[in-house]
Amino acid sequence: MRVLVTGGAGYIGAITVRTLLDAGHDVVVLDTLEKGHREAVDPRATLIVGDVGDREVVRAALRGIDAVMHLAGYIEVAESQEHPAKYFDNNVTRPLVMLAEMAEQGVGALVFSSTAAVYGEPERVPIAEDARTVPVNAYGDSKLRFEHELDLAVGSWGLRSVRLRYFNVAGAWPDGSLGEAHDPETHIIPRILGAIAGGRREFEVYGSDYPTPDGTCVRDYIHVCDLARAHRLALEHLHAGGVGAVCNLGNGRGFSNLEVVRACAEATGVPVEVVLGPRRAGDPAVLVASADRALEVLGWQPERSDIGEMIADAWRWCQSSVQ
Ligand SMILES: NC(=O)c1ccc[n+]([C@@H]2O[C@H](COP(=O)([O-])OP(=O)(O)OC[C@H]3O[C@@H](n4cnc5c(N)ncnc54)[C@H](O)[C@@H]3O)[C@@H](O)[C@H]2O)c1
Repeated sequence: MRVLVTGGAGYIGAITVRTLLDAGHDVVVLDTLEKGHREAVDPRATLIVGDVGDREVVRAALRGIDAVMHLAGYIEVAESQEHPAKYFDNNVTRPLVMLAEMAEQGVGALVFSSTAAVYGEPERVPIAEDARTVPVNAYGDSKLRFEHELDLAVGSWGLRSVRLRYFNVAGAWPDGSLGEAHDPETHIIPRILGAIAGGRREFEVYGSDYPTPDGTCVRDYIHVCDLARAHRLALEHLHAGGVGAVCNLGNGRGFSNLEVVRACAEATGVPVEVVLGPRRAGDPAVLVASADRALEVLGWQPERSDIGEMIADAWRWCQSSVQ
């Protein structure tokens, strides 16, 4: 298939692009490079530098395309709270321009990067896809709103979409050649590894009074290569005529922030001292996925669920990218 991957120069996008190319698909990447990296885009793909909200650019990018994977977006929770309109614009309004052009050109299959943040504070865990969706930050709200737009497009012009609600994505391409390079970095594993690589031995954990076994937040980590494989399966599901679906992507197992710090210390062989800081606004206590539906619909199961392996891969990337 010939696939347009928006956000294909970002962390998850670049790894998904390489996974698609390795499986024999043709890939066109559309990315502003505002947050992504030109050098992360596999040279076998065609890179178009442009915005999903630019109708002319999207029109040209969609020529000959069978399906779209929409990963482009802003991802910082704290920033979304300060600038909700910026998130609404980039995560809802601009991609609507792309959707309109997809309708125009009859490109009727889409895989969308959604997030566990659509659930907000869950009533029970593990979280299934039919749990209530009450986002507690503007980032999650923007992703949920775009999911609603995808629902509307089903009725109005027959779009079929798979929305993948990722839990915490971690790890890197196993040889360390592609990985996470956000600026600012807000994700816990690369922040701990970045601190270690920079010679800092203290790490602040946000909040120690949550109703969890050790008082720190619990999250479900998924290896980025498992995630990329789920994208490929979703694409192939749609190509085979499969109906639209919403699927969580996680391992179904939670790790507390303290456990993650310990696992990073173990993987790197460097001791880390934890400083317990105050809670960060908008952080639910526990987010753990039920990913049964991804197995039913896509035949997907995680293959790299060991957090030590995720951290070891991320550490390889971290060391190669600081040299
Ligand atoms: N990283 C995670 O843990 C996580 C968890 C849940 C969901 N997601 C979702 O996955 C997707 C990818 O996340 P990531 O971690 O790779 O982020 P990233 O910032 O590394 O990549 C996003 C890419 O999108 C590009 N982009 C942003 N706005 C654009 C626009 N209007 N037009 C074209 N390109 C644009 C950026 O330049 C960047 O390359 C995002 O949609 C994010 O919401 C990520």
